Amino acid sequence: MLGDNGANAPRLLYFGARLPDTQDLTELELAQAVGWRESTPDSPVVQTIFPTNGWGWMGEPALRTYAPDAPSPVSWSTCRMESTDGQIRTELQAEPLGLNIELVWVLDPETDVLSAHTTLRNTGKRSLHLAELASIYLPIPAHLTQVLAFDGDWSRELAPTRFTAPPGLWRRTNRTGRTGFAGATFATLEPDAGDISGRVTAVHLAWSGNHRLTVETLPDGSRAMIAGAMLDDGEVTLEPEETFSAPVAYVCTTVNGLNGVSDAFHPFVRSQILPTEASQTRKVHFNTWESVGFDFDEAELFELAECCAKIGIERFVLDDGWFSGRRSDLSSLGDWTVDTTLFPGGLHPLIDRVKALGMDFGLWVEPEMVSPDSALYRDHPDWCVHAPGDDRPTMRNQLWLDLARSEVREHVFGQIDELLREHDIAYLKWDCNRFQFPSMSAGKIGASANVRSVYELLDQLRDAHPHVEIESCASGGARIDLEILKRTSRIWPSDTTDAIERLRIQRWNGLLLPPEAIGAHVGPSPNPITGRSLSMDFRARVALFGHFGVEVDPRTLSGPDRDSLTDHIALYKQHRERIHAGRMLFWKLAEGADARAVIAHDGSEALVLACQSEVGRRGVAAPVTFPGLDSESNYRVRLLEPWPSIANRRLEHLIGMKTGSLFSGAVLAETGLRLPLSDPETAWLIHIERAD
Ligand code: GLA
Repeated sequence: MLGDNGANAPRLLYFGARLPDTQDLTELELAQAVGWRESTPDSPVVQTIFPTNGWGWMGEPALRTYAPDAPSPVSWSTCRMESTDGQIRTELQAEPLGLNIELVWVLDPETDVLSAHTTLRNTGKRSLHLAELASIYLPIPAHLTQVLAFDGDWSRELAPTRFTAPPGLWRRTNRTGRTGFAGATFATLEPDAGDISGRVTAVHLAWSGNHRLTVETLPDGSRAMIAGAMLDDGEVTLEPEETFSAPVAYVCTTVNGLNGVSDAFHPFVRSQILPTEASQTRKVHFNTWESVGFDFDEAELFELAECCAKIGIERFVLDDGWFSGRRSDLSSLGDWTVDTTLFPGGLHPLIDRVKALGMDFGLWVEPEMVSPDSALYRDHPDWCVHAPGDDRPTMRNQLWLDLARSEVREHVFGQIDELLREHDIAYLKWDCNRFQFPSMSAGKIGASANVRSVYELLDQLRDAHPHVEIESCASGGARIDLEILKRTSRIWPSDTTDAIERLRIQRWNGLLLPPEAIGAHVGPSPNPITGRSLSMDFRARVALFGHFGVEVDPRTLSGPDRDSLTDHIALYKQHRERIHAGRMLFWKLAEGADARAVIAHDGSEALVLACQSEVGRRGVAAPVTFPGLDSESNYRVRLLEPWPSIANRRLEHLIGMKTGSLFSGAVLAETGLRLPLSDPETAWLIHIERAD
């Protein structure tokens, strides 16, 4: 980065793989300099890391602000830069307006993930209306011509799209008041970049609310990635001496393709983001939602818990439907007291039973919401987010509580705190099933104060109950970002447990998140959302590469299916410490199949899943190759049983691999194994262990 400690915002000379310390930056600057061009300002207006408009910069700005009687557009009167080991701090001051920007870019020495912190202070005497403050404006080099971005909807989270950056703007705006089903990560890539190699720069915005992700390509070819919270008009006005901090943006750049991105983000998320309670062994969950939904009573839950304990479940999570009058999604949110018609003795008998069976207990809550049909709403009709005098449109029959008001937040804290004090609850599934509209908090325009309030509420509850693990769920995967993950141990990536959909959803969450943070449950077949039927081994294998759990009602399973599920639970327990600490890799195999693996950091062991979803286009599939192993070592390779029944009939030649065959890492990487992987819905689990 180059700043002149003068009046220009700094320029980014280089952003990429680490350069040798001996590189002379002045030489680098000369080599990158762009000479004078026709039809441009005589004093060139160059791309900086914090551009503003009004003085000749024709691209997107990093700041849009407005003071009715401002003397002129923002221009920097001073720029100061200090760099200490791994950190660059830039301070920009605009006079006569009176506006100060502090940009702090911190490079994590272990992972090279960059965190960008941006703060604006009103140092003048006027009120400043803030329209936009980018968390990061990242100039990127010309060879990153492609964009990888995501689309998403309920139960269809994280559908990737990859395209050439268009001239002008590509922009994705999220106005749902949550992170959104499309997440908050995007990347730019060189055209040949793939899973294993190629230059990629990825940006993640750690913010659980409205935001914009942008790639801009200017007529001269300069390009930038921009990420920031999206503010409503009139949402933020800063009075003199007030500050506004933008959400943190996290950035990584790699020459090792998309796996290089996860190689940086996973250890970073493990060491810098996830709360300490997340580092405990990840217990096998059972969640009641897809088995009994709202239709249960205490006796049935006792029966279900017995059955869960028998197959190896370690945590029993009671989902929606346990609190006062809640028999459907029509009522009762906000009334967080136990329904005594369902549980005459409260939750204690159930929790005691669950614990006596050797499991711990988890509970579903949705604390940010209120149902119009609830005691809370009847007592405090003005506590929901609303515009006075206007309709109160619902979504899933519910309204958003105005947590930005301290009395509302204190009330909700009191209820959940009491629940946790009174019961032995190890885990909360924290849900949020609504978009935030009208876009208002604390009676004023704008949704972001409510987002900050939920962080505050979670912080308060975590301080009071440090041992309770919390999951972030929002109609599935609509609140997955690194700011909520500082307060939650894992995410629920989707309401669909269809394993073929989950292959995609878990893969793309895995760009940012390590597998232990991703809830992966074995659902029923046919699947309640897609209607697709899949074998138990296929469903269970896909769930192994995450935080394993079960949604299917074990009482309804056939003998062989129950055995298979029990075996996979045992397999998960055997391998989870490695799955949750190792290096997670994803790669495409030929012909519509793909693979994922967790490899021990010393290369000594790997667990691999090779999956074919659709009918392969060729009867004989391409070999499964294994990147990431040590090519000089010899490995014992075993195909873990049960083998996929559909492919079992063509396996005589692989019989030796039940007990283990020896291959060098080089052979596994180059030649690979020819597995019967052309039948649809086939999932091979391969265990690889160093034999030397
Ligand atoms: C949301 C969640 C589901 C389930 C239901 C309960 O849809 O995403 O997993 O908890 O709410 O109402």
